[in-house]
Parts: sequence; structure tokens; C-alpha cells
Amino acid sequence: MSEKVTMRIKENGSIRITGTVDIVDADGNVIESKTDFSLCRCGNSNNKPWCDGAHKATGFEAPAL
Ligand code: FES
Repeated sequence: MSEKVTMRIKENGSIRITGTVDIVDADGNVIESKTDFSLCRCGNSNNKPWCDGAHKATGFEAPAL
């Protein structure tokens, strides 16, 4: 995997990953490869570590980077 992956910290929202990354377990084994997804940074997702949109309903506030 050599394509560049980008990570965007969204205002009042998630961390958007653009590109394909390997998700690994604690031993470094690849669980799955995932493309273009959002990680939760508000702590309210019912599907952590993925964003499920809950940040909108909870009024999460944080600046973009
Ligand atoms: S950032 Fe979207 S649910 Fe937490």
C-alpha cells in the first residue's frame, strides 16, 4: 500500500479518512482494509471507532484543524 492517505479534522465533527488503510488488531493482524470513512472524535457514536453521525444530535463542538 503506497497511495497517500489524507486525514481531515472536521469542524464540530469527525475525522475524515480519504484513501485506503489496513485496520489491524493489537497483534498487527489485518482485520480489514477500509476506504474513505470517518472516525468518531466526539465519543458519542454507537459504532465506535466509526462516526455514525451522533455528533450532530449531541451538539459536539471542536475546531477544524
Ligand atoms: S464524531 Fe461523529 S459520532 Fe462522534
